[in-house]
Amino acid sequence: MAGEPRQRKIEALLGNETTFRAARRSSQPQLCPGLAAGPGGLRPLEGFDLEVLKVAQEQLPCVSQNRLVEIVPESQPGPEKPRRLGIVLSGGPAPGGHNVIAGLFQAAKGAHRDSRVMGFRAGPKGIITNKYVEITDDIVSHYLNSGGFHMLGTGRDKIDTPEKMERCRETCAALQLSGLVVVGGDDSNTNAAFLAENLRGIGTQVIGIPKTIDGDLQVPELLQIPFGFHSACMAFATEVGNLNTDCKSDLKYWHFNRLMGRSASHIALEVAFQTHPNVILIGEEIEEKELTIHNVVRLIADVIVERARAGKNYGTILIPEGILEFIHEVNILIIKISYIIAAYNREASQDEPFHTLSFEEQVQLIDNSDIWRDYDSRVFLGFPSLLQKGLLLPRDSHGNFQYALVNTERILLEMVATYLRKQRAKGIYKGVLRTQNHYYGYDGRGTFPTKFDCDYAYNLGAAAYSLLANGATGYMAAIKDLHHPVAAWQPIGIPLAPLMHLEERKGRLELVIAKQKVDLESPAFQLLEQERPKWAKEDHYRFPGPIQFDGIAADDKPITLQLNSL
Ligand code: FBP
Repeated sequence: MAGEPRQRKIEALLGNETTFRAARRSSQPQLCPGLAAGPGGLRPLEGFDLEVLKVAQEQLPCVSQNRLVEIVPESQPGPEKPRRLGIVLSGGPAPGGHNVIAGLFQAAKGAHRDSRVMGFRAGPKGIITNKYVEITDDIVSHYLNSGGFHMLGTGRDKIDTPEKMERCRETCAALQLSGLVVVGGDDSNTNAAFLAENLRGIGTQVIGIPKTIDGDLQVPELLQIPFGFHSACMAFATEVGNLNTDCKSDLKYWHFNRLMGRSASHIALEVAFQTHPNVILIGEEIEEKELTIHNVVRLIADVIVERARAGKNYGTILIPEGILEFIHEVNILIIKISYIIAAYNREASQDEPFHTLSFEEQVQLIDNSDIWRDYDSRVFLGFPSLLQKGLLLPRDSHGNFQYALVNTERILLEMVATYLRKQRAKGIYKGVLRTQNHYYGYDGRGTFPTKFDCDYAYNLGAAAYSLLANGATGYMAAIKDLHHPVAAWQPIGIPLAPLMHLEERKGRLELVIAKQKVDLESPAFQLLEQERPKWAKEDHYRFPGPIQFDGIAADDKPITLQLNSL
C-alpha cells in the first residue's frame, strides 16, 4: 500500500506535465469587445488607401475587389448556422499558433454547437492530401496558451501548380468546408489569396492570419506586428540579457549573437531595446549606407578597439540573421546563385539536384553561367570559405535563400579577428580578444507565448470566424491598435490583394505578399540611433528576464510597437 503513493509521486516527477504548463492551460485568453459578443457584423473602414497592382487585379479578379472592413458587435444578432471549417498552420512555427485554433474553434462552437473545425496536418500538404484531425474541446484545452505548432504540425509547401490547387479544391469539396483559415507569413498568405480566388466556385471562403516571428508582415496603421514576434524576441532577449550579466561579471568575452529573422531586422531592433547590447547591426541601415562586408567588420572592430582602450575587453553584439541580404555585393551573388540553382534544378534529374554536387562542381557550374561575370568571381573568391559555402546552400521550397543555415556570426567573428590582428600589428589595438558565438532561432520559435501573443492570437482566431460568418473571403484577419489594452483592440479584415507585389522567386517574377522591412524613419529606429553610442561605450545593459504569464510583467508588449505608436 505504501508503495502506491510513492509510485504516483514517481510518475508525477517523471511525467511530461509541468506546473507551469498546467497553470497556463487554465487561463482563458481575453477577447476584445468587437469579438466578445459573437461574430458581429462587418462595416467598411474608411480613411486608408489600399492600392491593388494591375497584375494582382488580373490574377485575382474577384478577391482584388475586396475593401477594408472592421468587425463590429451587432445589437440584435440573428441565429447562426452550423459551419464546417478547416484550419492549417503554415511555415515556421510561431508562439501563439495553438491559440488561433482555440479562438476559431471556441468562436465557431459559441455561435453554433454543431459547427465543426478540421485541422489539416503538416501544413498545406495536409490540404493537398486531405490529412486532417477534427478539433475537439479536449484538444483545445490541452494546447491552450502553449508554444509550438505540434497540435497539427506545419510545413512550407506552396500551392503553386494547377494540380495542387485542384487537389485542395477536391479536399475542401469532400469535407464540405465553408471556410478555410491559413495561419502563416508572407508566402502562406499568398497561398491564402490564390486559394480564396480558386475556391469561390465551391463555396469555400479563405481567410489568412498574420504569423511570423520575423515581424515582417505589417501594414502601416492596420497591422502593427504579426503574432509570435513578441514571444520569440522575449526568448532571445532573455538569453542576450543573461549574456550581458555574464560578460559584465566575468569581463572576459565578446559574444557574437545571431538572431533569427530571415530578412528584415525587426527582431534585432526589438532585442536591442530589450537588452542594450554594445553593437547592433540593422540590415536596412547597412543597405541604406551601402556598406560592404568589410565596412561591417570595421564597424564592429571599431567598438571593440574603443572599449579595449577603456579596459573593457567584453561585450555583446547583435547580428540579424538576414544581414547578408542587405550587403549589396553579397546580395547580388545570392540572387545570381539562386537563379543559377533554380535553372539547373529545373533541367537536372530529380536525384541529382544542385546541392548533391561537390563544392568544386558547384563553383564550376556557376562560373559557366551566362549571368556570372569575372567581377562576381573576384568578389566570391575574396570571401572567407565559410561564406562561399553558405552562398551555395540549397534554397527553400519557395526559392528563398535559407539564412538560418549560414553561420553569419562565425563568418563575421573570424573576419573581425583577422582585422584586429592587423590592427594589433600596427599598434592600434592593444586589447585581448576572447570570443563566443551564439545562434538564437529555433529555440525562440518554440518558446511559450507571451501573454500578449496568447490574447492576440486568440483574438485573431475569433476575428477569422467573424469574417467567415459574414461571408468574407480573400482577407487577412487583423487586430488594430495593439499598443492599447485588449479592451481597446479593434478587429478588422484587411484585403489580401493590395498587400501583394511582384518579387523574384526561383528566377521568375511572382505575385506575392510583400515583406515589410525596418523603417529607418520610424521613431523606434531613430531612438536606436540616438541611444546606440551610449550603449557602445558604457555598460548600459538591460536584463528583461524570462517570459512571465502572471503579475505586472505579464502585460509587457514589444518596445518597438510602443515606441512607434507614441
Ligand atoms: P516564417 O516566415 O514561415 O514564419 O518562418 C520564419 C523563420 O523562422 C525565419 O526566421 C528563419 O530564417 C526560417 O523560418 C527558418 O526556416 P526553416 O524552418 O525552414 O529552417
